[in-house]
Amino acid sequence: MNFSTRAQHIDASGIRKVFDLAATMSDPINLSIGQPHFDTPGVIKQAIHQAIDDGRNAYSQSQGVKPLIERIQADVDRELEHDDRRAFICSGTSGGLMLSLMVLVDPGDEVIVFDPYFVMYKHLTTLCGGKPVLIDTYPDFRIDLDKVRSAITPRTKAILCNSPANPTGAVLPDEDLKGLADLAAEKGIALISDEIYRAFQYDSEFVSPAKWNPDTIVIDGFSKTYSMTGHRVGWVHGPEAVIQQMIKLQQFTFVCAPHPMQWGALAACDFDVSDHVVDYRRKRDFMLAELGDQYDIRNAGGAFYLFVKAPWGTGTEFVKKAIEHNLLIIPGNVFSEQDTHFRVSYAADDAVLERGVEVLKRLATG
Ligand SMILES: Cc1ncc(COP(=O)(O)O)c(C=O)c1O
Repeated sequence: MNFSTRAQHIDASGIRKVFDLAATMSDPINLSIGQPHFDTPGVIKQAIHQAIDDGRNAYSQSQGVKPLIERIQADVDRELEHDDRRAFICSGTSGGLMLSLMVLVDPGDEVIVFDPYFVMYKHLTTLCGGKPVLIDTYPDFRIDLDKVRSAITPRTKAILCNSPANPTGAVLPDEDLKGLADLAAEKGIALISDEIYRAFQYDSEFVSPAKWNPDTIVIDGFSKTYSMTGHRVGWVHGPEAVIQQMIKLQQFTFVCAPHPMQWGALAACDFDVSDHVVDYRRKRDFMLAELGDQYDIRNAGGAFYLFVKAPWGTGTEFVKKAIEHNLLIIPGNVFSEQDTHFRVSYAADDAVLERGVEVLKRLATG
């Protein structure tokens, strides 16, 4: 069979190698997981059971069920106070990202992505026929606005930003976010802000770049905050015109977010996750206290990741050695053009983190 160049342009070999390696391990110390380690809260599960029992099993309206949209719209209006900002429900943050790029990017257009990046950004841009233009943010994963300014061309359609970030856990300070928001507005380029980790910001208040640029397209979801990664519910808010286009495309692609899960998401809106956030902050502090002397770890202010510089060799060489010691972590080149770092997830039980730290301490000196 001849596959499309679109499919062939997507290279998934990096992450596949990690999965292949993981498959050879029997009971790894697993610090590779990109989702919360607690289960979906009971009230959310009950709301989904109830929705299914009540017969809410057919398609919902493409933009989502009314009470959930209204709830999110009210939260957004309270936070941002924009006149022209409308919310709808999408199929996970991934669905929102896909739709936003589909409505903005024509073949040959450019999308600015910060390196290290969430892998999907590169691939979704490629799927739309666009070209990801990568801007290096090493060593502290902050944004150099001069680099962004000089990367902008007449073909630049969008800038993708993500704070707190995967894979780095980095939180951008307000000045970086404001600078980016202002620059996008000045140049008339869409700013897409992926805010999926906003609940997990440990040392400062979360601020959306939409605060400074009312045209910002914000993409968010229930996956990480409420441990609902399999439920596939997210939301988008932005100017009415772009939201209309996205809902139109959703109708002919995803159709709607899974209907019963949207009622679970509505219950999630009233669930307080602050205990989990406190717990992840404590885990972050533990990891930094244990590893900070031997490892170079920058800007680990949020999400549940550390992006650590390999103390010797490449990121891949270091990860190979870690795997020989039964520790599963992810080489940085899965998320970057550079092979110098590795990602550690601290979304794990304390006992697992302690075992992982022990191996990392042993490996630090080679
Ligand atoms: C930065 C970022 N954005 C989006 C997603 C996808 O989330 P969802 O499950 O809502 O599609 C992830 C998942 O790992 C992520 O890390």
